[in-house]
Amino acid sequence: MKGTVGLWLRTGSLALRSFCLVHVINSHFYEFTETRGESMLPTLAAINDYVHASKKYRNGKDCQIGDCIVAVKPTDPYQRVCKRITGMPGDYILIDPSAKEGDDIDGQAFNSYIRVPMGHVWVTGDNLSQSLDSRTYNSLPMGLIKGKIIAANDFNKPIWHDGALFGFRSIENSYSDEF
Ligand SMILES: *[C@@H]1O[C@H](CO)[C@@H](O)[C@H](O)[C@H]1NC(C)=O
Repeated sequence: MKGTVGLWLRTGSLALRSFCLVHVINSHFYEFTETRGESMLPTLAAINDYVHASKKYRNGKDCQIGDCIVAVKPTDPYQRVCKRITGMPGDYILIDPSAKEGDDIDGQAFNSYIRVPMGHVWVTGDNLSQSLDSRTYNSLPMGLIKGKIIAANDFNKPIWHDGALFGFRSIENSYSDEF
């Protein structure tokens, strides 16, 4: 009997420690999350695409323009968003070059410029017409950045296709200073 209790305790303790380890890894090193939505097409598929995010970059640490990031949605703390950083702190941004006169966000004309405040970045989806991003919720506080997307698995793809397992590919920084 004593042995059984001991076994249960040891098993329980191991389970608890494993759980904590998973939690620590998930919050500090690495996260594997499903993404949904058309806002990051063609970089990320609309469904069944899972991103590998490195937590080394949480709070925007070492993030650069052109990086894809996972962040808490500024308008809903229970939701995550995947976006690309298209403006760094201090940068001047034309809020929406495609906006027509009369379009408006927060009483701010769509065709006006803003300066990204310190501790913030400007984020947009790669599929601009289908993305809710900084053009709507303004600059993103870097504290909401959970990690940088370094790779993704597209489970819409077969197990093995073009030399990749489940549509695995790395997600690259898109910044280029060449035209
Ligand atoms: C953006 O999303 C729409 C709606 O899903 C899609 O038709 C279009 O091809 C997407 N654009 C890009 C660049 O993938």
